[in-house]
Amino acid sequence: MKLRANSSYAVVLCGLLSVPLTVIAQEAQPAEASLGDLTVEARTKVKAFGKQLKQTLKQTLQSEGAISAVTVCNLEAPAIAESVSTEGWKVSRTALKVRNPANRPELWEQEVLKTFETQLANGTDPQTLEYADVVNKEFRYMKAIPTGAVCLACHGSEMNPQLQQHIKSLYPQDQATGFSVGELRGAFSLTKDLK
Ligand code: HEC
Repeated sequence: MKLRANSSYAVVLCGLLSVPLTVIAQEAQPAEASLGDLTVEARTKVKAFGKQLKQTLKQTLQSEGAISAVTVCNLEAPAIAESVSTEGWKVSRTALKVRNPANRPELWEQEVLKTFETQLANGTDPQTLEYADVVNKEFRYMKAIPTGAVCLACHGSEMNPQLQQHIKSLYPQDQATGFSVGELRGAFSLTKDLK
């Protein structure tokens, strides 16, 4: 399974370039793994990760409250990411402002996140913001994560003081507060080694 990185300049930034993914997929070598196939696989992984995390978070918030739910994000989010990181894939979450320094973006991720911010400011629906490319025989994919109302308990401006203290004790370098609904909280970021 190889993708010819130089066969097409394959950047997909939904909303920015209106090149349909299928067109790029056709331009890639048909016998080899196409950018389109990899993107479809990446989307499936993001869905699985997002769904599982959201479900667990919601359940814990409802049954045990926000303090316990911090543990979900603290321990389960990386565990779920790990569980979908199979067959050469690396699945993670990142942001321009991170809570956990381990989630800090690489340079290319920073650039994609900044482009997402610009697109969002220009009125693009955050649900459609995604990116896919192959660089140095590595497939890269990112999908924006918008801030929803449920996120504000832990990422908003007015947090419960006890909760705030708990988060601060776990994450002394926390930058991920002060968000409003609709803002870009971060992104799912996936890579797959194609060597
Ligand atoms: C119960 C508290 C809580 C809620 C609610 C919550 N988060 Fe978080 N969030 C956290 C914690 C704790 C981390 C750090 C996780 C880690 O250690 O990797 C985190 C990390 C993240 C990250 C990874 C980047 C970073 O800042 O380290 C993203 C992206 C994120 N949250 C998005 C969201 C979104 C979107 C929602 C709403 C759907 C949400 N969170 C709801 C507590 C919460």
